[in-house]
Amino acid sequence: MTIRTAILGYGRSGSTMHAGAIEANAPFDMVAVCDIDPERQRQARERFGCAVYSDYRQMLEREDLDLVSVITRSDQHCEMACDCLRAGKNVLVTKPWAVDAAEGQRMIDAAQASGTRLFPWLPARWGSVFLRLKEIVDAGTVGEVFLIRRAVFSFATRCDWQTERRHGGGYLLNWGPHIVDPPVLLAGSPVVSAFAHVRQVINPGDGEDVFLALLTLADGTIVQAEYNIAVEPLPEWFIQGNRGTIIATGKNIRICRNTPVQPDDPTRYGDMTSKDAETIEERIDGAIYGDQNVVYAEVAAALEQGTPFAVCPEDALQLSRTFDAIRTSGETGDVVRL
Ligand SMILES: NC(=O)c1ccc[n+]([C@@H]2O[C@H](COP(=O)([O-])OP(=O)(O)OC[C@H]3O[C@@H](n4cnc5c(N)ncnc54)[C@H](O)[C@@H]3O)[C@@H](O)[C@H]2O)c1
Repeated sequence: MTIRTAILGYGRSGSTMHAGAIEANAPFDMVAVCDIDPERQRQARERFGCAVYSDYRQMLEREDLDLVSVITRSDQHCEMACDCLRAGKNVLVTKPWAVDAAEGQRMIDAAQASGTRLFPWLPARWGSVFLRLKEIVDAGTVGEVFLIRRAVFSFATRCDWQTERRHGGGYLLNWGPHIVDPPVLLAGSPVVSAFAHVRQVINPGDGEDVFLALLTLADGTIVQAEYNIAVEPLPEWFIQGNRGTIIATGKNIRICRNTPVQPDDPTRYGDMTSKDAETIEERIDGAIYGDQNVVYAEVAAALEQGTPFAVCPEDALQLSRTFDAIRTSGETGDVVRL
């Protein structure tokens, strides 16, 4: 089967990550590209020899498409995706798929009404370090996990639409899919409440460039998810179980196992140190934020065989609800229940 595919939004991400994965995966055939920028249209025509459009509604009318990948600015995703779904096309939407949960629900409703498939893009779920951490945690290597800290730091500024709220900018939506979703998935329990600080510190515009959220999950696990500005970063993962700690920095994982002991003589501090300490170090290959070729191969399998895709629209909706709760908590200072 050939999957007749179009990219809507052939900018930085559309022309690299998505066009590259469509090119690399045999079932996909790039039939059309839509971008309002004539230079981007020229590049797409030269690369794929495909039809190019500046008006996506015209593209939907004229082209027989199995899949549209929506890779425009974040505030444009919902309306464009809904139009594509109503036109009977399956849709992949990049992250953040929506600016809030109401938009997410609209896309789900549009897909259900037209009987089409909706593929939210959460590539960090395929991240190499994340997948290895999940194996380690699921094997019970550090006992029962009760606290996961996930953080990403940088000391750079940007000055494009990603700094403007009216365009769906701000780092909660931009980085949150990579930072908030994986630890919640790792714990395997839904978020029930959020308490957060959300600040704009060094970027221009009006979008936040810092967030620090404390999430409580239904099983009691605490997730601390943070994007912050720092010259020297903390570890990107810090996972605490009742039998040890896992730390991940870049592609390096350190598992520190330890068994607390009951002291024979509680007055002797020496007896209170834990025993059977063991440290295991691993270096993980592969893409930390997920390999787009692998994700597209799974989209192809889902379209060809009608199988479920690893990211259900309901998962993405729950993530949008969590972002809404983080934002509201940041504005009010209250704990927000989902
Ligand atoms: N790791 C990832 O998954 C990842 C990485 C980068 C960006 N993204 C996401 O991809 C999206 C795009 O980001 P980007 O950095 O590529 O932005 P960008 O500004 O480089 O690209 C957006 C493109 O959309 C085009 N466009 C604008 N209005 C249009 C319209 N009405 N019709 C057709 N085209 C139109 C623009 O001309 C531009 O080429 C964002 O939502 C971003 O969050 C995801």
